[in-house]
Amino acid sequence: MGEAMQVMAEEGQLLAFLVGLTGARTVLEIGTFTGYSTLCMARALPADGRLITCDITDKWPGIAVPYWERAGVADRIDVRIGAATDTLDALIGEQGPGSVDLAFIDADKLNYRRYYESALVLVRDGGLIILDNTLFFGRVLDPAVQDPDTVAIRELNAFLREDARVELSMLPMADGITLARKNSV
Ligand SMILES: C[S@@+](CC[C@H](N)C(=O)[O-])C[C@H]1O[C@@H](n2cnc3c(N)ncnc32)[C@H](O)[C@@H]1O
Repeated sequence: MGEAMQVMAEEGQLLAFLVGLTGARTVLEIGTFTGYSTLCMARALPADGRLITCDITDKWPGIAVPYWERAGVADRIDVRIGAATDTLDALIGEQGPGSVDLAFIDADKLNYRRYYESALVLVRDGGLIILDNTLFFGRVLDPAVQDPDTVAIRELNAFLREDARVELSMLPMADGITLARKNSV
């Protein structure tokens, strides 16, 4: 189960690379699990950078904390437990629009569209939203596959392609990684 949940090492490296490339100082992650992608991105932040990571349960992030401490990045990481839709609403109220440089979406697929809309509010103009699993094990390409998760990702992919609020690039590596750069209005 964990193998399918955690990003692959090459994706972890890519996430770290993108944090550095964009000069991100504030990162938002939706879907912590055992904190591997969190660790990759937190290590790429400057020492005074901040990474807010959301999960519905503290069971998985609890496993992560000793590893974040050993890597010397625990003080950069702010774990928010609860349904991410609620956490994101709270964050918008707390720190305001445009307060995040880079967001990584990797949680429950049915809520991806909602996460994307909240991330678009939170990310600054020119900032980056990264969506994981956008090929969904190839299922999005097979019209015979109609389970709710696959349909949600398929519909989101079609929506993103037409969304003028972002510039898009889809990487067919790992399980499909979509990069959406927020356009200035
Ligand atoms: C694919 S895993 C994240 C993997 C992680 N990014 C990594 O690479 O190690 C998805 C995570 O989303 C969390 N999750 C599922 N539904 C959620 C929800 N409604 N709100 C917040 N987190 C949720 C799960 O508990 C799980 O830890």
